[in-house]
Amino acid sequence: SDQQKLELIKEAVKSYPDFPVPGVNFKDLFSVLQNPPIFAILNEILVKTAKQIQPAVECVVGLESRGFLLAPLIALELQIPFVPIRKKGKLPGKVKSHKYALEYGQDIVEIQEGAIKPNEKVLIVDDLLATGGTLNAACQLISQVGGNVASCLIVIELLDLKGRDKVSSPISSLIQY
Ligand code: PRP
Ligand code: MG
Repeated sequence: SDQQKLELIKEAVKSYPDFPVPGVNFKDLFSVLQNPPIFAILNEILVKTAKQIQPAVECVVGLESRGFLLAPLIALELQIPFVPIRKKGKLPGKVKSHKYALEYGQDIVEIQEGAIKPNEKVLIVDDLLATGGTLNAACQLISQVGGNVASCLIVIELLDLKGRDKVSSPISSLIQY
């Protein structure tokens, strides 16, 4: 069943206590990608979840950098464009930027001009939802360029950080801690 498959994925996610700083229990997506049968199951569930979204999404946005590992797989399977959102200064050509606050300081995310069509129905994909700052910034940037965030698809959600509350678009997460 899907529930058993999700349990297999959860078992394959390796935890690293006190990384990158003391008190954080880091959940590592790469341990799933190093396990081909489990990676195949993850891909199958991501694609199935993305195909079920109604009305159908028209573009898949991946968030640098670990979102880039998953979003193109979905875009390819659905035969719709993959579009990257990157940190400032990484994308060539004309870009649109969105500045957002971090716990200390600020950051800027960018998307290429014209990458999203007016009112296009967008699926955002990332590996993990923690405070929600990254996902919210991506949603804001997509709205700013005229896109419509239909849904967000996340592999791992850290429930105690309540990142979901920061984001106004619907979010599906596959596994939760
Ligand atoms: C991690 C993770 C998410 C983000 C979630 O990315 O991949 O993108 O943090 O955190 P938030 O909900 O508190 O914003 P990170 O910035 O560590 O970079 P990476 O993807 O390049 O490893
Ligand atoms: Mg990330």
